[in-house]
Amino acid sequence: MTQIDAFDMVLFGGTGDLVMRKLLPALYHQHQDGNLPAEGRIVCLGRSVPDTAAYLDKAHALAKGYLGKHYNDADWASFAARIQYLKLDANKPDEFGLLADTLNEFPKRTRVFYLSTAPDLFAPISKSLAGVGLTKGNARVVLEKPLGHDLASSNKINDEVGEYFEEHQIYRIDHYLGKEPVLNLIALRFANTLLEPLWRREWVRDVQITVTEQVGVETRADFYDKTGALRDMIQNHLLQLLTIVAMEPPASIDADAVRDEKLKVLRALKPLTAEDVHTKVVRGQYRAGAVGGQPVPGYLDEPGVPADSKTETFVALKAEIQTWRWAGVPFFLRSGKRLQERLAEIVINFREAPHSIFGKTGTPNRLVIQLQPDESVRLYLLAKEPGNQARLRPVHLDLDFKETFTTRSPEAYERLLMDVIRGDLSLFVRRDEQRAAWKWVEPIIDTWEASPDAPKAYTAGTWGPAASSALLSRDGLCWHEES
Ligand code: BG6
Repeated sequence: MTQIDAFDMVLFGGTGDLVMRKLLPALYHQHQDGNLPAEGRIVCLGRSVPDTAAYLDKAHALAKGYLGKHYNDADWASFAARIQYLKLDANKPDEFGLLADTLNEFPKRTRVFYLSTAPDLFAPISKSLAGVGLTKGNARVVLEKPLGHDLASSNKINDEVGEYFEEHQIYRIDHYLGKEPVLNLIALRFANTLLEPLWRREWVRDVQITVTEQVGVETRADFYDKTGALRDMIQNHLLQLLTIVAMEPPASIDADAVRDEKLKVLRALKPLTAEDVHTKVVRGQYRAGAVGGQPVPGYLDEPGVPADSKTETFVALKAEIQTWRWAGVPFFLRSGKRLQERLAEIVINFREAPHSIFGKTGTPNRLVIQLQPDESVRLYLLAKEPGNQARLRPVHLDLDFKETFTTRSPEAYERLLMDVIRGDLSLFVRRDEQRAAWKWVEPIIDTWEASPDAPKAYTAGTWGPAASSALLSRDGLCWHEES
């Protein structure tokens, strides 16, 4: 592992949910595992808390819950000693002098500015940081999604931030890229020869990428109703997963070599016409139902959601990649809230045997990379059941790490935060990738906006609207859980 230099990690939005729920716990784990250098400070910024003591009280109370069995008093005490809180209004440039004074105590350190704020603050914060001379040298800025709500707004934010930070200083985070099974998929594909000859149209029948949740909009109606599942999940997380599955082997693990290949995939996505949007994209919205045995309200009855909202809480779509490797192979993407299970998985369905001496088996060979709730990689094969008859049954080889590696599997944010401190951009989204992803989803946004139709209703606790299954059945296929 690369040597980690002394750093100051500045968390904008320091009292917010992401910092409390994900970022501080991630840094605590890395501290506990001994991966942070002694000279590593965490400077949290916010408006609602008066001072460091009050901030640590709040952080401590929340962290205990989030860290569960990993929490202990001694580790928390030594971790908390790294944390300093500054009361600072990100909207007020004249307050940034205080931050500069604090950071200039150690002018040579790597400086990470993590903007866990609304995207409309990204440009003003960057400008204020530049105003007090904090954007030069070893400075890095981390931008949380959503970066804009369409191509134009995302271009605008990127242009504005780009006035103060160079592209190599900008870390656009997509936490799905830090999930351990995704990294394993990269290793599986590019460290082994076994799969590569099969990883193409001649052998792959279809690919399914599913990220479903049981939760609803929770307390985020204000954000979510303006965003919807397409912008919240598909444009970023699911398209990023698709690039990892579909990219050509990069020449090296170098950040730009990897990102060049991912970009080629996004650019090769077959553009969708308005007609395609009607036939290849399904949008849904949940109605009251029961999830995990508990009754839940419909989306329109969630607090803060307008009664006539047309925001989608579910999307399923069929994408095609126009390359020699993937022509004709459908990539089905699906994501939604209030669905039957919390599940994130990538399924590669291989073609059936060209001639089966066992009659119709119905089950193709299949590689399933599960990200959630468990982390696993399974290769499904057909084997003969013991007994007198030649009866076949799918069995799986676990290409699994739980048994082999007993070390704790780090959370996505842990890995990604360490990458920022180390200066490794490979798992961060480059500007041109982001542009290509927005460009591809834009016809969907435009067609929906122009359409008088409402999203298709689905009952909470199911797998989404019936149209989602119909999307696959038109190709003679079905979702993984239906087969
Ligand atoms: C976020 C979305 O990016 O990802 C949330 O804004 C979603 O709506 C979350 O719940 C899912 O992440 P994970 O890691 O819990 O699957």
